[in-house]
Amino acid sequence: MRVLVTGGCGFIGANLVPRLTAAGWQVRVLDNEIMGHRDHLGDFAGEFIAGDIRDPAALDVALDGVDVVVHLAADTRVIESIADPAFNFDVNVVGSFRLMEAMRARGIRRLVNASTGGAIIGDATPPVHEAMVPNPIAPYGATKLAVEGLCSAWSGSYGFSALSLRFANVYGPRSFHKGSVVAAFFRRIADGLPLIVHGDGEQVRDFVFVDDLCDGIMRGIDYERSGVLQLGSGVPVSVNALIAEMRSVVAPQVIEVEYLPARTGEIERTWCDVSRARAALGYAPDTSLASGLAQTWAWFQTRRAGN
Ligand SMILES: NC(=O)c1ccc[n+]([C@@H]2O[C@H](COP(=O)([O-])OP(=O)(O)OC[C@H]3O[C@@H](n4cnc5c(N)ncnc54)[C@H](O)[C@@H]3O)[C@@H](O)[C@H]2O)c1
Repeated sequence: MRVLVTGGCGFIGANLVPRLTAAGWQVRVLDNEIMGHRDHLGDFAGEFIAGDIRDPAALDVALDGVDVVVHLAADTRVIESIADPAFNFDVNVVGSFRLMEAMRARGIRRLVNASTGGAIIGDATPPVHEAMVPNPIAPYGATKLAVEGLCSAWSGSYGFSALSLRFANVYGPRSFHKGSVVAAFFRRIADGLPLIVHGDGEQVRDFVFVDDLCDGIMRGIDYERSGVLQLGSGVPVSVNALIAEMRSVVAPQVIEVEYLPARTGEIERTWCDVSRARAALGYAPDTSLASGLAQTWAWFQTRRAGN
């Protein structure tokens, strides 16, 4: 069986691809390397295609002989999506539309789509779950919601099994290029700089370790049904609690923290309820924050050493 992973050179793709290969899949990656890079895949035994999901010619080559698509390629930068919504729309919505039309033309109907929880739901009383009415507050959340809509329609109209998995805040090895809080904090710790926290640090997030998330994606591939499922840790963690865990992980190195005024528009408390994914997929995110952070820090240190 052959799987195409779009955006496979990015943070999540670089963690998922070796697992797919180990599970016996023939893996093909399509990535334009705007954020990820083929080097992130290390000793990759599959096929790499340098190309854009918006380019029908690249899609034609990438989809040849494929049984299932894991669609990770996206413009994932939330703040930049506010400054340039047209680019975000073009990559995320037009790109996904072209991918799904190219799949339809070839009779490929199995799709696992990377979606997002917090950015789609917006400011709501946690835990966030699949039955909530979406209210995205940034263009990125709106474009991801639009793609969920395409998945639903291509299921209803063209017989796709298109599963949208709503990821929480993912952290782990191979995230050096990410703007997410764990990656940003570890970069600053590695450089001996103080951490910058906006607000009092009591804002709450759902941090899911990338191995747990990839396990959920693998289960999603086998599920072969349509719909929406939330993948997170299900555990609320404040930024101050995160920093306390990081202190243990990087000891004896000392972490300084600078608290700045809160940013307007930032969601104060969000985490997710993963009970639907547990029931549907047998999803069981069981990596402790301490263990996940230790593995992430170990990788950041090798990255710093240039390995
Ligand atoms: N990391 C998280 O915490 C998180 C949370 C929620 C949802 N997601 C979703 O998961 C998916 C993967 O995220 P990630 O963290 O690995 O991001 P990433 O930016 O590391 O990876 C995205 C990859 O897509 C590629 N890409 C971007 N535009 C492309 C295009 N037009 N054509 C081909 N390739 C293109 C990039 O080069 C990159 O390698 C995304 O869809 C993202 O929206 C991630």
